[in-house]
Amino acid sequence: MGSVLIVDDIAGNARLVESLLAPDGHAVRTAGDGAEALRLVHAEPPDLILMDVMMPHVDGFEACQAIKRDPQTRLIPVVLVTALDDTASRIRGIEAGADDFVQKPFNGPELRARVRSLLRIKRYTDDLDSAVSVIVSLALTIEARDRTTDGHCQRLSQYASALGRKLGLDEDDIGALARGGFLHDVGKVGIPDAVLLKRGALEPDEFELMKQHTVIGDRLCGTLRSLRRVRPIVRHHHERLDGSGYPDGLRGDGIPLIAQVMGIVDVFDALTTERPYKMALPAAWAAEELRREVGFGWRRADLVDTFLGQVGC
Ligand SMILES: [Fe+2]
Repeated sequence: MGSVLIVDDIAGNARLVESLLAPDGHAVRTAGDGAEALRLVHAEPPDLILMDVMMPHVDGFEACQAIKRDPQTRLIPVVLVTALDDTASRIRGIEAGADDFVQKPFNGPELRARVRSLLRIKRYTDDLDSAVSVIVSLALTIEARDRTTDGHCQRLSQYASALGRKLGLDEDDIGALARGGFLHDVGKVGIPDAVLLKRGALEPDEFELMKQHTVIGDRLCGTLRSLRRVRPIVRHHHERLDGSGYPDGLRGDGIPLIAQVMGIVDVFDALTTERPYKMALPAAWAAEELRREVGFGWRRADLVDTFLGQVGC
């Protein structure tokens, strides 16, 4: 299953393709021409585009070329749908960067099989997106700047995904928590060493600067579609249920659950390891602190209790 954008100027054709793909449960959207398709692709990138070539205004070739030129959308497979069985159209399509072709009239089972296969490849490219590994390396480099947090990202990844599994979250959320462990503080790349590595308490203006790591990290991850599920963790792992957290002062259920999970395991790991400004505390003390934070109305008691049960506190 995946999200599929069908582009055709004849609404009946789009409906036909939609009905052929319906048995596989894809989330289907439609666009009436190339220009609308480009708008939709930028607003919410689909996993696959099925595009008619003969359309008014911006035709399928032009729209395909625009999608393939843009670094943010070039990995989305584009299938050109054509009634033209001539070599010239195919060559034009290949030059425009099309990943595959299907011909009208449609052969239903063949169309479904092609779509399934391209979506499978898309999932691999999402996972292998080289830019993601660059960002993960960046996150590990930041961890290396502050040697006392050694292994923090790895532990967070393990704690958070284990807690997510215990809470019965779906595989996408668990994957986001595993990645989020590495990426939650990637925005610290934009924080000067004088603040990041300061021994002792931060001045108010320094703390304001430090808070920006959530926004900077969100912006960094925002360039990559394959990191979209991690972004809520990166941006909101310092929010508190009573609205006193940052950067957006979200409250209660307005804070994404996976960000709440990361917030809990982050505090636990920060307290139980040595930092520039403090010694490592015993796990039991960290558990007490988390329970105190529940009492302040900052964290959900059930999440904290489940986590503490997992780490034997
Ligand atoms: Fe953080």
